[in-house]
This record gives sequence, C-alpha cells and structure tokens, in this order.
Amino acid sequence: MSELRYDGRVAVVTGAGHGLGRQHALELAARGAKVVVNDLGGDRTGAGASAGPAQQVVEEIKKNGGEAVANPDNVATPEGAQAIIQTALDTFGKVDIVVNNAGILRDKSFKNMSVEEFDSVIAVHLRGSFLVSSAAWATLREQGYGRIVNTSSPAGLFGNFGQANYATAKMGLVGFTKTLAHEGAKYNIKANAIAPVAWTRMTEDLLPADFADKLGVDQVTPLVAFLAHESNADSGEVYTVGGGRIAKIFVAEGPGYGQKETLTVEAVRDNWAAINADSPLTVFKNVGEQMGPLIQQLTS
Ligand code: NAI
Repeated sequence: MSELRYDGRVAVVTGAGHGLGRQHALELAARGAKVVVNDLGGDRTGAGASAGPAQQVVEEIKKNGGEAVANPDNVATPEGAQAIIQTALDTFGKVDIVVNNAGILRDKSFKNMSVEEFDSVIAVHLRGSFLVSSAAWATLREQGYGRIVNTSSPAGLFGNFGQANYATAKMGLVGFTKTLAHEGAKYNIKANAIAPVAWTRMTEDLLPADFADKLGVDQVTPLVAFLAHESNADSGEVYTVGGGRIAKIFVAEGPGYGQKETLTVEAVRDNWAAINADSPLTVFKNVGEQMGPLIQQLTS
C-alpha cells in the first residue's frame, strides 16, 4: 500500500508545543505538509506564555528536512485565532488542515469550581476551536477543500469527577464537529473529532504510571493524520484512540416509547423500562432523521 502524503498541503496545529499537538505537527511535516506550529507556551493550567515551545518544534521539523513556522498566539481570542490562520496564509499561501488541539486543565470538584475555572477551560477548548476554525472557514470554502480535526475527550463524552468545565467543553466540541460536518459537506470540508488517551504533562499524574510507555502520543497521531488526509471521506464522527486501540463513539437513540394519548407522569413511570431500553439503537445522521420516529407516530 502506498504511503499517505501531505505534499502541497498546509496544516495548522494548535497547542503543538508539547504533547499530542507536537506529535501531530512532527508527523504531518514528516509526510510533506507545511505546518504552522501554534503554541501559547503556558503551563498545564494555562498560566504564563512563551514563544519557546512552538519555536523548538519548528526547529525540530526543520532539522528533519520539513517546513514549518511558529506562532505563539492564543487560540482563545479572536485576534489570536485570526493571527494563527494569517500566519499560514502569509507564510505558505493557504490553509488546508486545522487540528484544534490546544488545551488546559483546571480540575476542581463541581462544589468548588469557580466561574473563572469554568470560563477559562471553555475559552481554550471550545471557544478556541470555534475561533480558529472560523478564521480558516472562508478560505476552506473558497478552495473547496478542508480537513478539521477537533480534540474532544472521553471525560467529556462519559463524564469525569472534577471536570465539569472540561467535560462541558469537550462534549460541546462533539456538537460543533457534527454541525461543521453538515455545513462543510458541500465544500468538501470534513470535520471529525478524536477522544484520545495519551501520556502527556496533562495526564501524567492522572493515568496509571504502569502504562506510561504504552500510551505514547505516537499512538494517537496516526488517526489525526488519517482524518486530516484527502482520502478520508468521513465527516462528523468521533473516535476514541490511544495505546494502539481505535473505536468509533456513537451518539445513538434507543427504540423509545410513544403513545397517542397526552403523556402523564404516571405513563412515564409505567413505561420507564421501555423508555430506557437500549436495544435496538439508531444512529441518526442529522436532526431531520432523528425526528423520523416522532413524525411517524404523529402521522400514523
Ligand atoms: P499538553 O499540555 O501537553 O498540550 C497542550 C498544549 O496546548 C500545550 O503545549 C499548551 O501550551 C497549549 N495551549 C494551551 N492553551 C493554549 C492557548 N490558549 N493557545 C494556544 N496554545 C495553548 O496536553 P495534551 O495531553 O497534549 O493535550 C492536547 C489535547 O488533547 C488537549 O485538547 C487535551 O484536552 C486533549 N486530550 C488529551 C488527553 C490525554 O490523555 N493526553 C485525553 C483527552 C483529551
């Protein structure tokens, strides 16, 4: 089988100074893409800033014979996001691939979570992905080509103690991804999301140490690179990935319960088992399809 290449493609990877983003940038560059390595360079909580991490990754890419440019802007501000995409346009003349990866952690039990802890995490993960994608969108539409990969998390999809802020942002990215997939379809813009697990500074005190060497960032990047490749035809999907395993995560609906008479509290109680039934599950492609069973009930 032929090697997947990205020659002639321009990729923007946010938060690429460390961890997963760094690996995505290295891999895309090694396979021929020109890469904007964005990173604000703060610590795990988002405190501080430094141009160093992004610059170091660029030097590494260049040393390996690749092409890259550093950008130290903040994904969470409109000006920062605009500047990140402008760096791609000014340096390489276009943008084809956007990997929204930048992230911070401000874990706290819900009882103790401050508005600032909630807002700052939403700002980087959710608002940042919106702003950077938005800054690239007109170009992607005009050229009739784009690949967007958003970074969700199992914590967002399934919930996790101490991460009400993070989980909200990460589940938000699922709806964001599915909507971009619909709006981008006509322009050959594919948007997908990953829910990774990898050993990075973000997770080194959260994951079991025994698995450190098995949960390398290099076990996540191949999926990101595939989703960012022109041969990927799928859009609006979410995949969990890490440690050599990949699986698709579905938003699905059960068979449900319906009645012609006006619903009462007692009818809900009496049909609770049917309402909660989880087989068969249906995965709807859009909200119109999801209305199907209801329309059928209303018209039968
Ligand atoms: P990391 O801390 O090594 O990398 C995150 C990078 O984002 C850092 O280099 C940081 O400087 C940068 N960043 C933070 N705020 C930024 C901003 N406002 N603008 C630009 N850059 C900014 O963490 P890791 O693990 O590589 O995380 C990457 C992504 O993967 C994050 O979105 C994270 O939530 C997600 N993720 C990671 C998991 C894991 O197991 N490592 C699990 C699930 C999701």
